[in-house]
Amino acid sequence: MEKLVIEGGKPLAGTIRIQGAKNAALPILAASILAKGKLVIENVPDLLDIQVMLNILNSLGGRTELENHTVSLDMTELSSSHIPEELMKQMRSSIFLMGPLLARFGTVTVYQPGGCAIGERKINLHLQGLEALGAKIMEQGNTIVCCAEQLKGAEIILDFPSVGATENIMMAAAAAEGKTTIHNAAREPEIQDLQHFLNAMGAQIYGAGTSTITIEGVHSFQPCTYRIIPDRIVAGTMMVAAAATRGNIILEQVNPQHLTSLIHVLKRSGVQVTYSGDIMNVQCGSRPKMMERVVTSPYPAFPTDLQSLIMVLLSLADGLSIVKETVFEGRFKHVDELNRMGADIRVDLSSAFIRGVPRLYGATVEATDLRAGAALVVAGLAAHGTTVVEQIHHIDRGYEQIEHVLRQLGARIYRLAPEEVLLQGNYPRN
Ligand code: UD1
Repeated sequence: MEKLVIEGGKPLAGTIRIQGAKNAALPILAASILAKGKLVIENVPDLLDIQVMLNILNSLGGRTELENHTVSLDMTELSSSHIPEELMKQMRSSIFLMGPLLARFGTVTVYQPGGCAIGERKINLHLQGLEALGAKIMEQGNTIVCCAEQLKGAEIILDFPSVGATENIMMAAAAAEGKTTIHNAAREPEIQDLQHFLNAMGAQIYGAGTSTITIEGVHSFQPCTYRIIPDRIVAGTMMVAAAATRGNIILEQVNPQHLTSLIHVLKRSGVQVTYSGDIMNVQCGSRPKMMERVVTSPYPAFPTDLQSLIMVLLSLADGLSIVKETVFEGRFKHVDELNRMGADIRVDLSSAFIRGVPRLYGATVEATDLRAGAALVVAGLAAHGTTVVEQIHHIDRGYEQIEHVLRQLGARIYRLAPEEVLLQGNYPRN
């Protein structure tokens, strides 16, 4: 297994460009199933999850090619709506394919995506939404078969503004007969991106970004060329990394409007954040201030995907901070690892109590999921001494060549191949 080795304690400095958003690209690639003809999707990050999605589309009879962050797709010859179990298991986001496959074939077979390191991650809201559109759902053990001769528009009220369920329902309803309204819809920027993409293919969808989305079903979709939005979670990760290392960085190709809750928290803890257009400067010259309470919640509140990251910064703050996680249960797996690096964090149910320490120390730690792994990398950059992060395949699911990006900011971070044994100081130095 590959590892990341980080020699910490160096303030980050320099300029980087933020990759395209994985969480926007995945549903958009799934939605491409609705159109026949050649589509082009630009600014797609070159990540493991994207590759799995392309493999699934290929296995169903589609043709895809990823080159220089541009995906060319042709779904004209799509011949199957049965997602192979093996591919389904590799990525939870394969559940996004249900809506568009159902819309195109009138039937879809998928497998339970199963549990996950950050919590149970149910799919009941996806299934209820498709049922409301007229689909019959049969669950047999692990297999879910979903059929509908003709999907019909409906009024749907989500019990919780689930991102994935909102997206799945939008994709199915785009091809349904009549009008669908989704109430209590998720409002994440990735949902707006999906609306823009579907509308570029000829759909008629309004309201994404608010909690009521209206979809007028259409009969056909045309191919288009579309550019994915910047990844706000990757941008947020780099912003926290700059703050935690007391650095000074410039981010290009970032959308500050998507990061207002993080900017607010960072500013209150003494970090300077300024921006103009899609360029942002983050700098921090002193110890961060404690935060009484940071609560994760659906957008536009503080994102659960940045919870582990902000905890790294607050571990170094000048007092006691509290972080409450309300979106996923069990999303505190990074806490034990951060404590091994000298942090002082205690978890009680869904809250973490973080007593700031003057410094973190390098240690060998394990990434348990994508964002937990990113947090450990940021902790390693801020820590004194050498940190080794193991199980980094989790990090590669969401960050394109994270060590290259961080090295552009002057970080001393290297990837060790499985056969390379770490001896004191045997990694290249800047
Ligand atoms: C998406 C993001 C993920 C982010 C999450 C919350 C993608 C590919 N992933 O995940 O990075 O952390 O939003 O911002 O976009 N739930 C149910 N039943 C359902 C669906 C969800 O109970 O049918 C619950 C989940 O268990 C969880 C909460 O709703 O507690 C939020 O999940 P959801 O918004 O659906 O997240 P994802 O779309 O899976």
